[in-house]
Amino acid sequence: MSAFRIAILVFSPGGNTLTAARMAAAALEERGFQVQVLDVTAAKVIADREKLLQYLAQEIKPHDLLFVGAPVYENRLDKFTLRLIQHLPQPGNGPWGKLCAPFVTWGGVTSGISLHQAAKALRATGRKVVMTFKVEAFHVFSLEWPEPLNPGMPGEEAGPLMSALADRVSDIVGMEAESLPDITDTLTDTPLLPKLVGAFTSRVPTQEYTYKSVKVDPDTCTGCGTCVRRCPLDRLEIREGTATVKADALRCMHCYTCLRVCPSGARRVGLAGMRGPLMALRKLNNEHPGNALYTGGA
Ligand SMILES: Cc1cc2nc3c(=O)[nH]c(=O)nc-3n(C[C@H](O)[C@H](O)[C@H](O)COP(=O)(O)O)c2cc1C
Ligand code: SF4
Ligand code: SF4
Repeated sequence: MSAFRIAILVFSPGGNTLTAARMAAAALEERGFQVQVLDVTAAKVIADREKLLQYLAQEIKPHDLLFVGAPVYENRLDKFTLRLIQHLPQPGNGPWGKLCAPFVTWGGVTSGISLHQAAKALRATGRKVVMTFKVEAFHVFSLEWPEPLNPGMPGEEAGPLMSALADRVSDIVGMEAESLPDITDTLTDTPLLPKLVGAFTSRVPTQEYTYKSVKVDPDTCTGCGTCVRRCPLDRLEIREGTATVKADALRCMHCYTCLRVCPSGARRVGLAGMRGPLMALRKLNNEHPGNALYTGGA
C-alpha cells in the first residue's frame, strides 16, 4: 500500500485549508501512505502563472493521487485556485498522476458550487475525479462578531471525515484505475439559492470588488511585518515603520488574513455589518452536514 503516493496541493490564505490538508495527510500517513503537502500560499506565486508553474515543476513530487484544496469564496471556488487547476500540467506528464480529489473549506454559510467547479476544472485537465470533500471552518468575516462562526475549526470534529477519506483511499488502491468512475457529474446536489448566487458570482470578478478594504492605524502598527509575510498576494511592505500597500500591488483579494494575524489590532475593516446578511443566507441555505465526503455513491 505504501507504494501508492499522494500529493496535497493547497491554497490557503487564512490557514484553514492548510490545517485540513495536514489533518488529511496525518490520517493517510497513519495508513502507511506517502503524502506530500505542498502549500502554494507561502510561496506567494498564486497570481503569477509563470512563477506558479515553475514552482510546481520544482516542488511537486511524483504521485498517483492529487488532492487540491482551497477555500470557498462567495459560494464558489476561490478564483485563484480555479486558475491554478486550469494551469496544471496534464497527468502522465512527469510527476503528475491521473487520479485527483478536490476539497474545500467553507465558513458555514454556503459551500455552493465550489466542489462541482473544482471537479469540472480538474476533469478538463484530463484527470479522473475519484472523491471530493468539504470541511467546515472558521469564517474570517465573523472575527469581530460577538459569537464568531465556527471558531477553532477545523479541529477534532473533522476527525471522522479524515478517517473516512483515508478508508476511501485505501479502497481505491485496491481497484484498477480504469474501473474507477469519475464522480464529477454526481456533484450537483447544491441547494438552489447558493447554486444561483454561485453561478452568478462565478461569472463576475466580485472577489476583488465586493468587500471593504482593510485600513491600518499607523499609531497602533508596530511594523512587526506579520501581515507582510502572510499576504498571499505579496501586496504589503513596511514603509517608515508602518505596514503599507506597495505602489504596484495587485488588487486585494479580501482574504482578511492580514487582519486576522495582526498581533496589535492595528488593522480594521468593520465586518460587523456582514453578520445579518450572512446569517440570513446560512439559515436559508440549510446546508448540512458541515463536513462531508463524496465518493459518487448514492
Ligand atoms: C472573501 C471571502 C469570501 C467567503 N465566502 C464564503 C462563502 O461564500 N461561504 C462560506 O461558507 N464561507 C465563505 N468564506 C469563508 C471561507 O470559505 C473559510 O473561512 C475558509 O475556511 C477560508 O480558508 P483559508 O483559511 O484556507 O483561507 C469566505 C471568506 C472570504 C475571505
Ligand atoms: S492585503 Fe488583501 S490580499 Fe493581502 S492579506 Fe490583506 S486582505 Fe488578504
Ligand atoms: S501585523 Fe499589524 S502591527 Fe504588524 S506590521 Fe502588520 S499592521 Fe503593523
